[in-house]
Amino acid sequence: MTDATIRPRHRDCEAIMECRDNLAFMRALPAESMQLIVTSPPYNIGKAYERRQPLHYYVAQQAEVIAECVRLLNPRGSLCWQVGNHVQDGEIFPLDMVLYPVFREHGLHLRNRIVWHFEHGLHCSKRLSGRYETILWFTKGKDYTFNLDAIRVPPKYPGKKHFKGPNAGRLSCNPLGKNPGDVWIFPNVKNNHVEKTIHPCQFPVELVERLVLALTNPGDRVFDPYMGVGSSVIAALKHGRIGYGCDIVPEYVEIAWQRVHALRAGALKTRPMHRPVYVPKNSGVTLGYQNGQPPAAHHATSSD
Ligand SMILES: C[S@@+](CC[C@H](N)C(=O)[O-])C[C@H]1O[C@@H](n2cnc3c(N)ncnc32)[C@H](O)[C@@H]1O
Repeated sequence: MTDATIRPRHRDCEAIMECRDNLAFMRALPAESMQLIVTSPPYNIGKAYERRQPLHYYVAQQAEVIAECVRLLNPRGSLCWQVGNHVQDGEIFPLDMVLYPVFREHGLHLRNRIVWHFEHGLHCSKRLSGRYETILWFTKGKDYTFNLDAIRVPPKYPGKKHFKGPNAGRLSCNPLGKNPGDVWIFPNVKNNHVEKTIHPCQFPVELVERLVLALTNPGDRVFDPYMGVGSSVIAALKHGRIGYGCDIVPEYVEIAWQRVHALRAGALKTRPMHRPVYVPKNSGVTLGYQNGQPPAAHHATSSD
């Protein structure tokens, strides 16, 4: 990204990113044009890029954006809404619970409530520290794209065989790997993460990559209506999809373009999808399987 040979270019036939309010951006796009809409909206907690609103007002605003997303979604497409908690006077309001009725009103089908677990965050003194957020994965219809083989992870016991019955002696696991399940462990993007920019809450690219691979095919369109520094667009481009996104903060959009140019130049560092999470040496913690990797596997350093 710091490579002086990377020149800003704000047009790219596979990346369409604008500094624009998402409703205005979406209203200019044709119905049913997106195979995957994946995003993490503001949580209404007073971050630099948002203004705190009464919760019912926030939900009404989200409902307007969600309605427009549903219009843009292909009949075989998926909508993934990644959220944490809204917090008010020390009380938490899990936004997936708060927003679920809005998605249901549109007749969307919930396929998974994925728990994204991470190790780092604020340390709370009056409640347990929050160490997960969720992704609500909805499909528009009953017939939808789901490429499980594209996201399989290594099995815990790769050589394990049936020991009795008609399959005795045959492998008991799928040789292509196992279903990754609905609890995903990816480090969140804090200061020592290789993808960190000035944005306070970026998606790890590997998290969106898993959704892109499972829920779209090459050439499909992926859209993030709250794109921040463009992590969803990067994940889409990395896998031959077309990335759309918008954000209202000019600096974030500029960084998103710099990241896309760096990706095109082969200079963008992202954390590899199958790298196990870091467990400190001598931590006293017994190492278990991490993202499908056995304990003896290489563990990344905290600067990865
Ligand atoms: C949680 S962040 C998303 C970060 C993003 N996932 C990334 O990886 O960088 C939410 C983003 O929504 C943007 N935003 C807030 N209101 C918006 C609006 N009306 N239209 C477009 N973007 C908006 C904020 O500027 C912020 O960057």
